[in-house]
Amino acid sequence: MSDIDDLQTHLLTAIDAAAGLDALETCRVHALGKQGVVTQRLKTLGAMTPGQRQAEGPRIHALREAVAGALAARKAVLETAALDARLAGERVDMTLPVDLAATGSIHPVSQVMDELAEIFADLGFAVATGPEIEDDWHNFTALNIPETHPARAMHDTFYVERTDGQGERHVLRTHTSPVQIRAMLAQKPPLRIIAPGRVYRSDWDATHTPMFHQIEGLVVDRGITLGHLKWTLETFLKAFFERDDIVLRLRPSFFPFTEPSAEVDVGWTMRNGKRALGGSEGWMELLGSGMVHPRVLANAGVDPTEWQGFAFGVGVDRLAMLKYGMDDLRPFFEADGRWLRHYGFSALDVPTLSAGVSP
Ligand code: DAH
Repeated sequence: MSDIDDLQTHLLTAIDAAAGLDALETCRVHALGKQGVVTQRLKTLGAMTPGQRQAEGPRIHALREAVAGALAARKAVLETAALDARLAGERVDMTLPVDLAATGSIHPVSQVMDELAEIFADLGFAVATGPEIEDDWHNFTALNIPETHPARAMHDTFYVERTDGQGERHVLRTHTSPVQIRAMLAQKPPLRIIAPGRVYRSDWDATHTPMFHQIEGLVVDRGITLGHLKWTLETFLKAFFERDDIVLRLRPSFFPFTEPSAEVDVGWTMRNGKRALGGSEGWMELLGSGMVHPRVLANAGVDPTEWQGFAFGVGVDRLAMLKYGMDDLRPFFEADGRWLRHYGFSALDVPTLSAGVSP
């Protein structure tokens, strides 16, 4: 075997063994660089006799070709391996737990609305919605609150000015009750809906904010009685507060859209020096309800001689305060990060009846 063959074997072995692109570059400089061993062989051709050159030339050139080919092949292999390693290193493992340390939280109002939707879905209620800028007819007239009725003043209504001076006056809805009308107009009875959402009144102190949240409930069917209303509220409140000893008291009251009307109180007992829901040592007012007034059914195109209904409306913010122990309503709407971190909920704690409605 000639020394050129030896040199080729030696160089190709080293190239194949190069562990990385840096090592391969060292091999290239060693063989083909300015002072490289193959380059030096090529330089010897000039000093040869024509006869020697004819014999040696092709062999030295073949050596250079073989080395250059091996370098290119090895380079391709190493580059592919480097890319694979980078891709593997940059892969995101979707099965790793999400790091929530720096993210936000679910607002208690959203959390409670999700809990309510879950509880009522289980009772067969669908979620209905209506506009927050409502016309006077849906917000008042259809609900049996005529123009001259004192209830209009009681609601501290925000009126929306029309710029064209024509058409009906609009208001920021003062309650979720107009969704009752919209649901009955949109859908033939029997129906069971809840309508959670924002409502607006011109009021501002520790227990009143100009915007707050209500949830409305409406059932229309044949043979509906106050008993159905009481059972539904009891079932809902036991599920919501996660206590079996929730006691309700229906007190006669007045709302223009219900007849009879009942204010619902929930019983509390002293535990560790604090009033806690459950039992009946004392009572606190919780929500308004009643049998849908026949005139309201008729206004919404439902025949009151064939269909009856019950309805209720309750403050979502108040439910959140009672369940999660806040004593001031105003921070709900102040966007204070410390309050939200303290009272907020993890985005991954989705309320379900099977896993528990509260986290
Ligand atoms: N809309 C009433 C309010 O905002 C609450 C209410 C009372 C709703 C009785 C009802 C009801 O559906 O039956 O004060």
